[in-house]
Amino acid sequence: MTNNPAPRGASPLRAIVIFAAIAVPLVPAGFWLGELVPMMPAPVQAPELGFSMLARILALTGFVLMFYQFVLTARLPFLEAVLKRPGMIKSHRLIGKIGFLLMLAHGTILLAMDPFLYTEKTLGLIALILLTVAVVAAWFFKPLKLSLKTWRSVHLLAYLVFPLVFVHAISLGATVTGYRPVWWLFVVLFAGYCLIVAYRIARLVSQKKLW
Ligand code: HEM
Ligand code: HEM
Repeated sequence: MTNNPAPRGASPLRAIVIFAAIAVPLVPAGFWLGELVPMMPAPVQAPELGFSMLARILALTGFVLMFYQFVLTARLPFLEAVLKRPGMIKSHRLIGKIGFLLMLAHGTILLAMDPFLYTEKTLGLIALILLTVAVVAAWFFKPLKLSLKTWRSVHLLAYLVFPLVFVHAISLGATVTGYRPVWWLFVVLFAGYCLIVAYRIARLVSQKKLW
């Protein structure tokens, strides 16, 4: 009775989920834009300012996309009632590549502009290194000839990356610390991540399997 196929297809719920997924990254982007527009044309004329603004929007979007990665792979029953699992894994692979490139560009730009490291910035660097290993293992598992078990175990590093990036962003980001709604959005996303981790651990314990 609990195994009834979930309603699939173009349901209004599906449209709401997709709308929300598009709307969430627009929140930090809106505040970022609100800061950028009055500065114009300074960010175009001064490359330093322009690149740091660019790096910030890449990071703000990358953070939200990274959160989606945990949601898409968590096998949450309420989400699977609305979206098909193969579609979610396909989206995960695409969003993972896009999100990773945004975060890589963010870190590379800011490191190139100022290589001096301090604790909060180092957290970002460590996060980026771990994320690169996790993503490369999944993205290039064929050419790297990694077994399913190996690449998936390496890919689990992603769980370490999100808390590091959260602390990095919340202690360093001009948009995150400067605008209360963005700060709250980041806190809510991090709370969502903690719930997903708790759910996954509970499921592993109940299934008596760790992988
Ligand atoms: C921001 C980048 C990414 C993050 C944060 C991320 C995170 C995750 C997480 C948390 C899982 C669930 C692992 C588990 O608990 O079982 C997962 C699974 C997976 N990821 Fe990623 N991932 C990223 C990028 C990618 C990319 C680029 C690919 C492939 C090109 C990929 C392919 C997969 C696949 C195939 C699974 C297994 C899904 C399943 O069968 O349940 N991921 N990823
Ligand atoms: C080499 C690696 C990294 C370096 C050097 C770095 C550096 C920085 C710096 C200097 C800032 C402050 C920018 C400002 O507000 O003016 C910042 C903010 C931020 N970083 Fe990173 N970061 C790195 C990796 C990452 C990664 C992997 C993420 C993942 C999403 C990330 C997410 C963020 C976010 C969300 C902000 C806040 C942006 C804002 O509030 O406008 N960073 N980073």
